[in-house]
Amino acid sequence: MEKQTIETMINLARKQLVFSYTPYSEFKVGAVLKTKEGKFYTGCNIENAAYTPTNCAERTAFFKAISEGEQEFEAICIVGGKKGILTEYIAPCGVCRQVMMEFCNPEKFQIILAINKERYKIITLKEILPLGFGPANLF
Ligand code: THU
Repeated sequence: MEKQTIETMINLARKQLVFSYTPYSEFKVGAVLKTKEGKFYTGCNIENAAYTPTNCAERTAFFKAISEGEQEFEAICIVGGKKGILTEYIAPCGVCRQVMMEFCNPEKFQIILAINKERYKIITLKEILPLGFGPANLF
């Protein structure tokens, strides 16, 4: 991926932190999902008083995109930290990895874990979900 695109995604993900609704954990997460055609879908985490309905930033971005007709994705960028202070890389939770597995090629889908434009790393879904179970197992 081009450096310019990565920087754009990091900026967009960081901007999502203001929308993150986290009265319970105060842990703010922002994500931006890039389609193969180059369109961006943003997401933030949205917590709930009943706790389990909480939606992660990554899934917010995926569900927004899928509900708009998208199904082909190239990359996602994720930033997060307590009170929105970014100090370390935040990797997607297991449920979000499984949602990615549904729509993305694990060997190709790029996950950008970022703090800022200078500090980020790119991993594939396969690296963080080895032996994943996906649609191919059912067809
Ligand atoms: N969270 C995300 O949004 N994405 C992740 O990858 C990890 C966790 C959210 C869920 C919850 O609102 C808060 O972070 C603490 O778990």
